[in-house]
Amino acid sequence: MRLKIAVLAGDGIGPEVTHQATNILRAVAELGGHEFTFVEGLIGGTAITKTGSPLPTATLDAALECDAVLLGAVGDNKFNALPPDKRPEAGLLQIRQALGGFANLRPSIAYTALSESSPLRPEVTKDVDILFVRELLGGLYFGAPRWWDRESNEAINTMRYTRDEIVRVARVAFELASNRRQKVTSVDKANVLEVSQLWRATVTEVAKDYPSVTLEHQLVDSMAMHIMNIPRNFDVVLTENLFGDILSDEAGVITGSLGMLPSATIGGAVNLYEPVHGSAPDIAGTGKANPLGAILTAAMVLRHSANLEQDAKAVEAAVNKVLNAGYRTADIARGQQPGQTPVSTQEMGKLVHQALAESIDRRQAMHAV
Ligand code: IPM
Ligand code: MN
Repeated sequence: MRLKIAVLAGDGIGPEVTHQATNILRAVAELGGHEFTFVEGLIGGTAITKTGSPLPTATLDAALECDAVLLGAVGDNKFNALPPDKRPEAGLLQIRQALGGFANLRPSIAYTALSESSPLRPEVTKDVDILFVRELLGGLYFGAPRWWDRESNEAINTMRYTRDEIVRVARVAFELASNRRQKVTSVDKANVLEVSQLWRATVTEVAKDYPSVTLEHQLVDSMAMHIMNIPRNFDVVLTENLFGDILSDEAGVITGSLGMLPSATIGGAVNLYEPVHGSAPDIAGTGKANPLGAILTAAMVLRHSANLEQDAKAVEAAVNKVLNAGYRTADIARGQQPGQTPVSTQEMGKLVHQALAESIDRRQAMHAV
């Protein structure tokens, strides 16, 4: 298996967590005899500082030539005063649009070992396994018109969707649900917004092609509550862009930390992989960042771009093993619990690497027998 991966580490903790993720991908390549090559590029605040642009042409050209893009994080307080189209985040939105992936998959899983890391009671989070399918190229993020008139003190953003944009992301949600627990929960605000009425009507139509999958509709405000109350009720959750942004951060509470959440964006020319957490400039360079979100994102690269499902599962199992053994970065440590060992970003990456190497060695030994 050959795979060319663009690595855009970005800002803040982006480079340190991405480094751990690429280490894991290198290990998988080496252990499995695959050829993964990595091409580095600038994005975000780092790119603005070095080139004046949050997404330099060289980065985009390189990304479009790769099989997958692995991104760290963008965002730097230094640029807070700039208008949205000049900020580091603009680079992220531009590359999302250019790569064309419209379905952003964000799994939210409750790890047994972390049941004490979540402020929710263990009986609420037990066995939760939600997959958010967030539409990534439409809605308020990209709709026109958009402006801020400083004279009149008026500003506007537009939530716009076409039927086709809804159909294609809904199909992804139903396909994924077909291989899971056969349920799609579609989120909207159809009691107030016309866009949501179109969303609901379209998703209902698409559902007819998937008779084995149950479809339910939830209004976004009550969905925000249900996710905390009865997260176990949800399998695949389909949302428009901004609702998915908000709800997926909220669902981080189930896992115990935003630092644990991976994502993959599929459906375009090149798949884009990024942990859900941001650049966390306050802890950058301190060794406190949790690399597991980035490492689990690497597992999604293996699953969705390399078709190496077994290796993806091996990475996820290695993460589980390390958590079960009690190793914790600062964000998932709860006080001074017995049986827990605090570790740095780098140590956590190394532990996952070791656990992975052991499991792949075992697999190969079994095949050799
Ligand atoms: C995310 C982030 C981004 C988004 C920002 C950094 C533009 O919050 O990936 O969830 O809003 O999509
Ligand atoms: Mn977000």
